[in-house]
Amino acid sequence: MKTKKYIIANWKMNLGLAQTVSLAKEFKKKFAGFNRGEVAVCPTVLALTETAEILKGSGIKLGAQNVFWEDKGAYTGEISADMLVEAGCRYVILGHSERRKHLFENYEEIHKKIRAVVETEKLTPVVCIGESLEEKKSDRRDFVLVDQLQQALSGIDVFGEQEIIIAYEPIWAIGTGTAIEPAEAEYAHKIIKLALNDLFGMRVNNKNFRIIYGGSINPKNVKGFVNLENMDGLLVGGTSLQADEFYKIAKAITKQ
Ligand code: PGA
Repeated sequence: MKTKKYIIANWKMNLGLAQTVSLAKEFKKKFAGFNRGEVAVCPTVLALTETAEILKGSGIKLGAQNVFWEDKGAYTGEISADMLVEAGCRYVILGHSERRKHLFENYEEIHKKIRAVVETEKLTPVVCIGESLEEKKSDRRDFVLVDQLQQALSGIDVFGEQEIIIAYEPIWAIGTGTAIEPAEAEYAHKIIKLALNDLFGMRVNNKNFRIIYGGSINPKNVKGFVNLENMDGLLVGGTSLQADEFYKIAKAITKQ
């Protein structure tokens, strides 16, 4: 059975408010009438509310790039899951490798963030996992993926229709222009699927979890990812800064 594909744009810290507004308008125009999959954009937090306004009346959903695990209080500089919901978000990227690298975010923290997000019952976490080049070279990829999933998700209760998206993003493929070989991605997604079966059981896994790939996806290499078995979509960074290119990716991955 073919399920809905997710195509999520991660604009990172690339655009200010004015540039975000202008790109969001381009996206809205480009994706008018597009109903083949779930498209979401994740702009800087500074532009969330303005982007939400622009996206009204389109099918494009809004996502954030981070969240804090407490719901309110003296946490200077942080933003809660409820605040993201109020800003109009449906998705939130958690534990991106750039945050793990530059802000030393770890899976204990990511776990607390997932818990806070799931508790809103209105937000879908996009949980990033993936091995470094060193881990890949020393053949530790499978262990790393299972370990990250266990740390992030053990003990999280998944109810009803709650979706959790796992984004497999090999760190060595992010922003390098070289994506993983599709067969390798399929293999890694299979490992993730089996680990999720162990953690949540097959029924909850099939119903509530999705697995997407991220790392140097562009309109050319996307074709190799179209018919993979355990591939529910893509998380796109650099190429998502161009509406035309991102649209080509979305069209290709949702091809029936
Ligand atoms: P990239 O980024 O597409 O520029 O490699 C992907 C990501 O970091 O989510």
